Amino acid sequence: MTIAFVEPGTRDRLRREGDAYVAPSGRRFPIVDGIARFVDDDNYARNFGMQWNLFAATQIDDGSHSHSADRFWTESGWTPAMLAGKTVLEVGSGAGRFTNIVLRQSEALLASIDYSNAVKANLATNGALAGDRLTLAQASIYELPFADEAFDFVFCFGVLQHTPDFRAAVRCLFDKLKPGGRLAIDFYPIKGWWTKCHAKYLLRPLAKKLPHPLLLKIIRGYAPGAVALYRLLDRLGLHALTRFIPICDFRAFPAGLSAQQRREWIILDTFDMFSPEFDNPQRIETVARWLEQAGAVIDWADFVTVCGGRAAVVRARKPG
Ligand SMILES: C[S@@+](CC[C@H](N)C(=O)[O-])C[C@H]1O[C@@H](n2cnc3c(N)ncnc32)[C@H](O)[C@@H]1O
Repeated sequence: MTIAFVEPGTRDRLRREGDAYVAPSGRRFPIVDGIARFVDDDNYARNFGMQWNLFAATQIDDGSHSHSADRFWTESGWTPAMLAGKTVLEVGSGAGRFTNIVLRQSEALLASIDYSNAVKANLATNGALAGDRLTLAQASIYELPFADEAFDFVFCFGVLQHTPDFRAAVRCLFDKLKPGGRLAIDFYPIKGWWTKCHAKYLLRPLAKKLPHPLLLKIIRGYAPGAVALYRLLDRLGLHALTRFIPICDFRAFPAGLSAQQRREWIILDTFDMFSPEFDNPQRIETVARWLEQAGAVIDWADFVTVCGGRAAVVRARKPG
């Protein structure tokens, strides 16, 4: 059983006609590479489409570690038993690391969307194991092609800071929850005045404007030297300086990765730091307040220790 698509805006139910979903108004949404498309590829998330199709398998749990599973279950606070037979919405699925966990480790019915062509990588990884439990689409958080109050669980990990209007995006997630449904989100936090005093924020204005293939080539070129310098400063206890090296923090990467996997993971995460159009971290209490103002009951609004790091997480419920 799959989850029904509706036309964003009118909320009219769509029906499948050959290679498109069609609204009663006659508006058509094409199915390309087996995936319903509600938006064009030519949008602010193009970098993610390239990134996740190039690094499609890099962060998928592969037996050498359970990074995505640990993050998903710890941050959400949910269990496989809670999700059994329930409807779950994943927004901003990227290459499908969490899609993979929900499908493999629970019996939920999952709807999963991403604004970019990353959905192609997701289908390649997860299509075969999904059976008819996955409804996948390229769509925007701001115009989700699902009825309001259609989901028992909604999650959105690693996405909200990359949207142009964080508060509106959170509201759109909340609208999709059934009364009594649960929401889990994580995001980049503002920890203090020093948060943006970092190579990422200092260089992004220039880096994000570079053609994405060129940016990736530059990162591949300097990464080995930058990693060596990072390690040296770290060993010397000069942690305050590592933030000025234009490389991702790789210290909490899974121990089971091979040297090659570790290199690819570093390139991926560094590209992910510099290429996004938007990077808007938020204070945890601000996000919790926005949700409360939307009518949510907050179950958790704090850091969660997971995978050797600390993630900013808000869990909320819709009363009812
Ligand atoms: C850093 S990636 C995280 C992907 C995945 N959740 C993960 O943790 O691996 C952020 C994702 O958010 C998606 N995204 C950004 N803006 C979006 C929007 N308006 N609607 C839906 N997805 C969006 C991007 O396309 C990208 O795949």
